[in-house]
Amino acid sequence: MISKSNPDHEISHLTQDICEVILTSQEIQSRVQELGTLLSRDYAGKDPVLVGVLKGVLVFMADLVRAISIPVSVDFMAVSSYGPTSGRQGVVRITKDLDESIMGRHVILVEDIVDTGLTLGYLVKNLQARNPASLSVCALFDKKVRRLVDVDIAYRGFELPDRFVVGYGLDYGERYRNLPFVGIMTPEAYER
Ligand code: IMP
Repeated sequence: MISKSNPDHEISHLTQDICEVILTSQEIQSRVQELGTLLSRDYAGKDPVLVGVLKGVLVFMADLVRAISIPVSVDFMAVSSYGPTSGRQGVVRITKDLDESIMGRHVILVEDIVDTGLTLGYLVKNLQARNPASLSVCALFDKKVRRLVDVDIAYRGFELPDRFVVGYGLDYGERYRNLPFVGIMTPEAYER
């Protein structure tokens, strides 16, 4: 429970688990504004639908839609994927599908982070098969050096080093999504 005397108590507790800040909240906010401006310009008059991939995208999506000045709609998908070490590389399962059809719509697939590209590669193919008028990808974070599947990212926020990061929607065991910045966890935090 957040105490009245120190409303930041819980967040500062989380912050103790971070040893390095990779991107500050201000850096992220200003890049998200730029992406919103670009999308508003490129999609003017097209009534696009932003398709977010849950759950990591939740913070980015909330800020991105507010940085866009043209009419847009929003829909979400959720997927579970098996990592490259699981022996089931590239196996992605849709656990929540879109609420509306995207046939004939201009679709912007919004991702928090692209790592190997396996999830995004699968989603692009899946959405393309539904015959949208157009499909582009907007990803806030890109760990390009880890790419196994080539995917075209038309709107990219930041390129990140090959390190596991948390914050701004990204989690470790469902924690840290609520940090307003992106950082690296201390070795001790992994043990908790
Ligand atoms: P990909 O299919 O390997 O590109 O994996 C993308 C997914 O892996 C993202 O949507 C995240 O859920 C997760 N992921 C990859 N790197 C990180 C990270 O550094 N922090 C948190 N989640 C990550």
